[in-house]
Amino acid sequence: MPVTRTPTGALPAHVAIIMDGNGRWAEARGLSRSEGHRAGLEATRQAVRFFAEQGVRALTLFAFSSENWGRPQEEIDALFDLFVSAIEAELPELVERGIALTFIGDRASFPTALQARMSEAEQASAGNEQMRLVVALGYGGRWDILQAARRWAAEGDEGRDSEVEFASYLSTAGMPDVDLLIRTGGERRISNFLLWQAAYAELLFLEAFWPEVTATELEQGLAWYTSRQRRFGRLSTASTGTANNEAPHA
Ligand code: IPE
Ligand code: IPE
Ligand code: MG
Repeated sequence: MPVTRTPTGALPAHVAIIMDGNGRWAEARGLSRSEGHRAGLEATRQAVRFFAEQGVRALTLFAFSSENWGRPQEEIDALFDLFVSAIEAELPELVERGIALTFIGDRASFPTALQARMSEAEQASAGNEQMRLVVALGYGGRWDILQAARRWAAEGDEGRDSEVEFASYLSTAGMPDVDLLIRTGGERRISNFLLWQAAYAELLFLEAFWPEVTATELEQGLAWYTSRQRRFGRLSTASTGTANNEAPHA
């Protein structure tokens, strides 16, 4: 597989979102954190529709991190219940829209009912080609790199020494690198999300809490992204007169 680089001005091939701020959104309204997560689900539904309609081919959403296991059990349980009901409720529309849903992360510690819904949804939507929707659950960027490195070392073939080959062991195998990484909720950090995959992503930090993010804001985000000049370490097209976005090793 060649190294692919999305050219300046083109639609991002892969958008990733750190959907942050549900709890603070709820607390500001005198609601419980769980109610904030429920409101976040509505924003998630709108975002999936928006990016699918724009023609973005891959969307990865951070819904539960490796570190979120450190939250109170009550909040974790409420989140898992929400994930189960959300998968059941949303699957028909996703299938209708031709969206393939998969999950990345360490699911071994999840309740069996949730694991079952995840597998069923993956099977029911496999082969859909309009958009790939990836939900990161129990996911950490370091976990991902470590599990890839373990399998890479165990296979031990010689000649598998390129970054492209290594990426095929990550949980995002077969997906393009992240072009646009959006984080809502005002924090400016990666919080152990797609560490390898977002190496050259354009970073967009929005002040809005996730439940209040609208399609208009996402549209502005896409417009901002397409105005970025993506140099990938090289010089701008204007100053060299050469094409800027061809991958050097392709
Ligand atoms: C993000 O919202 C959703 C999850 C981490 C599950 P938060 O729950 O982190 O909301 P804030 O950041 O506390 O407002
Ligand atoms: C990142 O948000 C994880 C998810 C959105 C699932 P957090 O709220 O967990 O991140 P920190 O604690 O602010 O870094
Ligand atoms: Mg948070």
